[in-house]
Amino acid sequence: MKVDMDKLVSLCKRRGFIFQSSEIYGGLSACWDYGPLGVELKRNIKEAWWRSIVQERDDMVGLDSSILMHRATWAASGHEESFADPLMECKSCHQRWRANDTKDSRCPDCGGALTEPRMFNLMFKTFFGPVEDEAATLYLRPETAQGIFVNFANVMDTTRKKLPFGIAQIGKAFRNEITTGNFIFRTREFEMMEIEFFVKPDTAEEWFNYWIEERQNWYLKLGLKKENLRLRQHAEEELAHYARTCYDIEYLFPMGWAELEGIADRSDFDLTQHAQHSGKDLSYYDPDTKERILPYVIEPSAGVDRAALAFLTDAYDEEPDKDEIRVLLRLHPDLAPVKVAVLPLSRNEALIPMARDVYAAVRKCFTTQYDDAQSIGRRYRRQDEIGTPFSVTIDFDSLKDNAVTIRERDSMKQIRVPVAELVRTLELKLSGEPLEVLPPGGKYWLGFEG
Ligand code: GAP
Repeated sequence: MKVDMDKLVSLCKRRGFIFQSSEIYGGLSACWDYGPLGVELKRNIKEAWWRSIVQERDDMVGLDSSILMHRATWAASGHEESFADPLMECKSCHQRWRANDTKDSRCPDCGGALTEPRMFNLMFKTFFGPVEDEAATLYLRPETAQGIFVNFANVMDTTRKKLPFGIAQIGKAFRNEITTGNFIFRTREFEMMEIEFFVKPDTAEEWFNYWIEERQNWYLKLGLKKENLRLRQHAEEELAHYARTCYDIEYLFPMGWAELEGIADRSDFDLTQHAQHSGKDLSYYDPDTKERILPYVIEPSAGVDRAALAFLTDAYDEEPDKDEIRVLLRLHPDLAPVKVAVLPLSRNEALIPMARDVYAAVRKCFTTQYDDAQSIGRRYRRQDEIGTPFSVTIDFDSLKDNAVTIRERDSMKQIRVPVAELVRTLELKLSGEPLEVLPPGGKYWLGFEG
């Protein structure tokens, strides 16, 4: 279904996924806060990425470098000179626009004439230490990549990795974007998941193609629909100053196709620049050829917030349900903020001790919510809307047979499971086992429908 951005933003606010930053003071544009459910979703995205990129690979190590870096970094990387967008100002309403977001030199808002474009650097400046002068000026990093390049020799020396190998990092980045909007799509503070993959120069193309495939598959494995993903090659004139070639993985967001992740071939640009500016040897000794070389770099660079927006958009669904509409997030279980809801059929005193015991056992293993307010139907709907894959219901039969019902979010089908088998069963179902596979003593439960 075509997802409406307003509905998504409203769900995110209503259910505690994402709030406007500094809302009580009127908000801070293009900055967002992740609420109790949003923070879980974001953590799950980052964990899924880290697991597949670092934990499950022999050729990758992790890093967490600081946001503030020596100013020379940004001179060497070219960001001081080139990380800029052409900016035009409307002579009537004084709004500022990125030149590529305008047509015929007219203001997209009021139609007024625009000034000639002038370059505007996107890096946020701050001061290091107590003196606020030019010498104390530093930048908030606009990408995490440079923290990796300046640590290349440290990582190589301490891990003894041989080419090809990569360094992966997740962290915040800051850009003083001129045109923002579309919710969390383009913000001034955001989080990146970046890989710098170092290879022998003559294998760069092979690895570039490998990472394009690999990264698309990651999104597909986590449930994004194939028809909502596509690849787009950058034209010569849009290539970043460091890139030899670049492809965007684009996603069909509510506002249309746009970049979800970029995969660039950065050649030896960064290592060359940092070697020259620092005077340090950043070459790699190739034991096969007995020569020193500067590796080439393939860089798959993803935004956590954009990934969150893509996963939320893809998961959002509405379907008729009696006289109402059932809104649900069909999130992959690995991404769902809450994995299991424990719901006593009612607040009847007889049910509560058992429901509490079940809750205590389940929450040790999975992020779990306990909810006993309002009818069971309403509680199922609440869980559907936040994407909880499974709800566990304790009813009056549970007191007699020591079994509970597991209801699946997407199909609303239910199975009855002995309490002793509950945690193991949930574990299997969350890792993809079909609901039809019953645990020992389990059975289909047709007692009540969602
Ligand atoms: N180191 C490479 C690099 O920074 P980029 O294409 O500018 O490349 C990589 O950024 C990814 O970071 C983008 O594909 C996007 O997912 C995310 N990103 C970039 N700017 C963003 C912004 N202002 N708000 C949210 N995400 C952003």
